[in-house]
Amino acid sequence: MRSTQLSISCLSLTLLLAWAAPALAESGAETYRTKCIQCHGTGVLNAPKLGVAADWVERTKKGKAVLTRNAINGINQMPPKGGSLQLSGAEIEAVVVYMLAQLPGDGAAAKAKPVSTAAKTAKADSAAAAPKRVAEVAKPKPKPSAKKPKPRGKPVNTFNRLMRPPSQRNLPPTRDGIHDASSVETAALQHPKEAFGPMPKSNSGNRVDWVAALSKGIIDPRFDLEDDTKKPIVLDLNIVREVKGSMPDVVYPHKQHTEWLDCSNCHPSIFIPKKGANNISMASILLGQQCGVCHGRVAFPVSECRKCHSKNKSKVAKK
Ligand code: HEC
Ligand code: HEC
Ligand code: HEC
Ligand code: HEC
Repeated sequence: MRSTQLSISCLSLTLLLAWAAPALAESGAETYRTKCIQCHGTGVLNAPKLGVAADWVERTKKGKAVLTRNAINGINQMPPKGGSLQLSGAEIEAVVVYMLAQLPGDGAAAKAKPVSTAAKTAKADSAAAAPKRVAEVAKPKPKPSAKKPKPRGKPVNTFNRLMRPPSQRNLPPTRDGIHDASSVETAALQHPKEAFGPMPKSNSGNRVDWVAALSKGIIDPRFDLEDDTKKPIVLDLNIVREVKGSMPDVVYPHKQHTEWLDCSNCHPSIFIPKKGANNISMASILLGQQCGVCHGRVAFPVSECRKCHSKNKSKVAKK
């Protein structure tokens, strides 16, 4: 059933308790290499990259405790605990310590900067006043929103395209860059915001949960552009792909796909129609292959981990 897969349920807390203790010994570096490198090594989803000072300079100002808390609870596109929910708070903290230590200037970037600013301040002011000022030198930065460059021209990648700030999302047809802005007919088209208003919401892309919109009958798309009578051949077959490591297993549902797509959209060019015959990996998905041919382009993007990784591992299924 869709609803069960969709209930993007949290892994139970018991899971955390069961796993935390033995794994504590794992060093921050090791945890990073197995659980965090996918994003922090590549910068995908705009994750701050390991060892790249510019990516961290604003963040380090929050201090280790806040960074750790955000890593545990998740922040924006960073999923809670990077998706590895079995990690304990202490293990996350160990990774954060490791990440900070990789920054140029011995991870003391956060500390070093204010100190040197302090030194300058001290020179300008009387020496006596200097020590007091040290605490204040983490001077208020310019509002991040103010200096964020507006997305312009070709976006860096499709994932970013789907993560437009709210003001850039669902623009009217005359400004969406897809329709001919000079045509009168374009101006007559309905504004997406109006059309999407009553639709079930999602967290990504154009903020519409299209699967729910279809299943609730809110939309009734035509299966074939030319032949109005043609209906899809819906195949209700789930393929569970066991995932090595800690991410929940992937459930690939034929139903939700074949309601929109033809078998030939995937078979045989993208996937051999045989369970387990395809070597699917997150890396190739992120590169726009396999599931990534559509997800992140015309279907919900890769940031929605739980929509695909929807089945908790069987060993914890008993709860
Ligand atoms: C699925 C990709 C992904 C994974 C996996 C991931 N991160 Fe992140 N992380 C992000 C993104 C994206 C951000 C930037 C979030 C934002 O907009 O502030 C981020 C930000 C952070 C930050 C900075 C938080 C802040 O307040 O600025 C820390 C610390 C962090 N991650 C730690 C970790 C740790 C530790 C792991 C592994 C256990 C991990 N991440 C795994 C994507 C990921
Ligand atoms: C969006 C892509 C997509 C579409 C569309 C699609 N499939 Fe599949 N199909 C898959 C994937 C992914 C697998 C799993 C392959 C694997 O496990 O390596 C699969 C597996 C299969 C299998 C193998 C099942 C088994 O147990 O070995 C059959 C049969 C199949 N598909 C038939 C169909 C038919 C018939 C249609 C059209 C009604 C269809 N598929 C449409 C992606 C798709
Ligand atoms: C040919 C294009 C295509 C490919 C390839 C494809 N998908 Fe999809 N997928 C879609 C579309 C279109 C939807 C429905 C629209 C949406 O949810 O954004 C969808 C929906 C889904 C859903 C349903 C989510 C829900 O809300 O119920 C899941 C899960 C999913 N895809 C997983 C996968 C996985 C896993 C793969 C790779 C094995 C894959 N898809 C490959 C196009 C594709
Ligand atoms: C469109 C569906 C989809 C989404 C969204 C998705 N994954 Fe995956 N993921 C897969 C598939 C399919 C596999 C391969 C499973 C297998 O081994 O057969 C996979 C595998 C993985 C693996 C195992 C190692 C590997 O590279 O194969 C990890 C770790 C992983 N995903 C993390 C994530 C994280 C973190 C997110 C969210 C940022 C995410 N995935 C979002 C479909 C998805």
